Amino acid sequence: MKEKERKEMNTMEENKDNGLRMPLIGDKAPAFHAITTQGEIDFPADYTGKWVILFSHPADFTPVCSTEFMTFASMANEFKAINTELVGLSVDSLYAHIAWLRKLQELEWNGHKHVEVKFPLIEDIKMDIARKYGMIQSQSTTQAVRAVFVVDPEGVVRTILYYPASTGRNMDEIKRIVLALQKADAEHVATPANWKPGDDLIVPTPGSCGTAKKQMETQGDDHYCLDWFLCFRKDKNK
Ligand code: BEZ
Repeated sequence: MKEKERKEMNTMEENKDNGLRMPLIGDKAPAFHAITTQGEIDFPADYTGKWVILFSHPADFTPVCSTEFMTFASMANEFKAINTELVGLSVDSLYAHIAWLRKLQELEWNGHKHVEVKFPLIEDIKMDIARKYGMIQSQSTTQAVRAVFVVDPEGVVRTILYYPASTGRNMDEIKRIVLALQKADAEHVATPANWKPGDDLIVPTPGSCGTAKKQMETQGDDHYCLDWFLCFRKDKNK
């Protein structure tokens, strides 16, 4: 085994021993207290009853991150309208965060002008939170990757996304994921590929021969099947 591989294996083992396994979908979001640009927060306790997008970025004053913050800030009210709060994180200091967010207000890009970032941006100089969430992915860097954790109103991790440093995130897709999760929870359905609000929904796969037969026999305008295991219904609440 090469030296680099051995080091990585050792770190993985150490992390396991220290209980530093990153959260997975379905896990409770690891709790932390943090200083942010909007004051101190206790996560996820302060957000009980709300959906949260907890996201990390590599560094303040970098180009891709700047476009992401302008876009997220412009969409903050759209997220609020779907009971969703944004919380950002990087390993920069509070003062770097404040200076960068003030600078972003002077910039104009892609229709985003004078945007004020009103959601909290966590300072995580010691990388305690970033490590807890698996946001630092390489031994050779202290920068967080572009991670996104969608956390539900009970504080459970429901989605995890990772993007490389050079690729800005698609905020519309992140919003679509929250809407799809909310729809699935509220109506016990699933959402097909490229689903958008209002599109037809996938009904649960039959768990018995009798239900499979019924699914096939009760097709009509509002409910149709391509086969017994792939049935759709119209969205009544669109
Ligand atoms: C950026 O946001 O532009 C960026 C950050 C870290 C590495 C590369 C790009």
